[in-house]
Amino acid sequence: MDKLGDMRRTHGCGSLAAADAGREVVLMGWVLRRRDHGGVIFIDLRDRDGITQVVFNPEVAPEAHAKAESIRSEYVLGVCGRVQHRPEGMVNPNLATGAIEVMAAELRILNAAQTPPFLVEDGVDISEMTRLKYRHIDLRRPRPQRNLILRHRASAAVRSYLNGLGFLELETPFLTKSTPEGARDYLVPSRVNPGMFYALPQSPQLFKQLFMIAGFDRYYQIVRCFRDEDLRADRQPEFTQIDVEMSFVGEQDVMAMAEGMMAALFKEVLDREVPVPFPRLSYEEAVGRYGLDKPDTRFGLELADVTGIVAGSGFKVFADAAAKGGIVKALNAKGCAEMSRKEIDDLTAFVAVYRAKGMAWIKVRPEGWQSPIAKFFTDDEKQALAARIGMQTGDLVFFVADQAAVVNDSLGQLRNHLGQKLGLIDADRFDFLWVTRFPMFDYDETEKRYQALHHPFTSPLEEDYDKLESDPLAVKSRAYDLVLNGFEVGGGSIRIHQRGLQERVFKTLGLSAESYEDKFGFLLSALDSGAPPHGGIALGFDRLVMLLCGESSIRDVIAFPKTQKAACLLTNAPSVPAKAQLDELHLRVKPAVQI
Ligand code: AMO
Ligand code: AMP
Repeated sequence: MDKLGDMRRTHGCGSLAAADAGREVVLMGWVLRRRDHGGVIFIDLRDRDGITQVVFNPEVAPEAHAKAESIRSEYVLGVCGRVQHRPEGMVNPNLATGAIEVMAAELRILNAAQTPPFLVEDGVDISEMTRLKYRHIDLRRPRPQRNLILRHRASAAVRSYLNGLGFLELETPFLTKSTPEGARDYLVPSRVNPGMFYALPQSPQLFKQLFMIAGFDRYYQIVRCFRDEDLRADRQPEFTQIDVEMSFVGEQDVMAMAEGMMAALFKEVLDREVPVPFPRLSYEEAVGRYGLDKPDTRFGLELADVTGIVAGSGFKVFADAAAKGGIVKALNAKGCAEMSRKEIDDLTAFVAVYRAKGMAWIKVRPEGWQSPIAKFFTDDEKQALAARIGMQTGDLVFFVADQAAVVNDSLGQLRNHLGQKLGLIDADRFDFLWVTRFPMFDYDETEKRYQALHHPFTSPLEEDYDKLESDPLAVKSRAYDLVLNGFEVGGGSIRIHQRGLQERVFKTLGLSAESYEDKFGFLLSALDSGAPPHGGIALGFDRLVMLLCGESSIRDVIAFPKTQKAACLLTNAPSVPAKAQLDELHLRVKPAVQI
């Protein structure tokens, strides 16, 4: 192996062009490909910057050429040589450096490499498991490199925007007390306090509120959060938030700040104009029209509530659902009357995943309705349905009847699925949307108690204060979510800044005075010490970067992500600790349960 010695890099591998012909250069990087063309050896040398073709000619540099015979893919090289125009017909217009090549004079092999487990190229068919196991090699591919570089530019743009507005970037602890955001905590045992645990923060929520109470006025942090929850393509156990808090503000101020941030981010990273302000929908309207509180507004297929029309009909499934306080909604798949029975069955299986017990349908044919349920309706009911749903010849209408949550969720998911399947989504669009006026609580049937829809520090709407005890489900909150193309990319609220109100909310959540004093006594006492009105938001940075990159999983924009089972395949975390370590922490582990 050669030493770097006095060799110093002069250029990146993506920067040389025709104008550099004749120049002496030194490049360093990895061997992407090596081709031996009867004596002359060509190497594509790669670094973060790009790829340059290097030529080893035995007649020009016999020593370098001899060395080049031994090199393989992913060897690390230093090459000294002269830039020259590629011969006629050999120019590669697809490569930034495609007009030139470097005629090597000297070669240093800085390191050898095992044959990589897969080609360092985009588009090669390898499993994600393999890619994650060899992530350091996977990350050499152009696409992950582009994604992480874009991620860097995105965080730089966000910092610059917020710094410009007078926000301070302040840090908060990772070893802390439970901060409830609706997931399980990751616990960390304390060696010096036997039997006691820290919780990793699900978000810096309480600390950022304490910063406001301490008078810092405007805080932000691009910060890791930890949540032990079921993982999906857009959820990781540790993920990054752009976390923001502001004093003396109302909803409009926080929303305007976030809109400005998105506009600055998209301009800086993608050179795209994002029109502001973003449209706003109340939670009720979002769920009413789209079934979900994070609707993808890039396409139509809105839902229609037909409960009133079919409640008294002869179709028992619909009438029963309505009688039990449920609803019946329809989704008009415009122009899909030709869909096969098999496809309809598949869609029925799809909604079943979201707990729909069945899905009725009507095909609108030129000769009339074709449907297993048409016979149950009177002509008046048929007319009213057709008008409400906007049914036209060629349409296929789906119906789900059940409790509202099941109907909205299943049809909302079906709507997204059909949007994809029918090609209705313009992938080049970025549709931002605010969802506001969320309910403050929902009711957990299994635990038989109210829980906060956002978090317990969110302020109720002032006009609903008096319903906190008498009718919690009717209380609306001052929370807002930012939605982009059907993803929840942010959430925040105006906070409770008075102790009395905070205690009432804790009580509605079923916490005794003793229990909330124990968990949140520090917050209550801080609220009592001169807390300004304040509010904020946290944006899901991984999700934003995923959408900016055009990826469909946040794993593609996180350098070292975890699998669905929350494992790191590269380091094999989590793992069994040594007995001595456990002893020191005063822990004993039950034998692992075989699943
Ligand atoms: P919330 O819980 O809505 O709010 O989180 C804010 C945003 O973080 C993103 N997000 C996630 N991204 C990846 N993986 C996860 N597991 C994950 N969980 C959440 C989402 C979400 O919108 N403290 C409040 C914010 C506030 O009130 O200011 C909070 O954490 O994009
Ligand atoms: P059945 O009378 O059970 O044969 O059902 C007639 C039609 O109603 C079938 O197309 C079922 O898929 C549909 N169906 C059953 N349950 C529901 C439901 N909860 N919501 C909507 N349609 C349903």
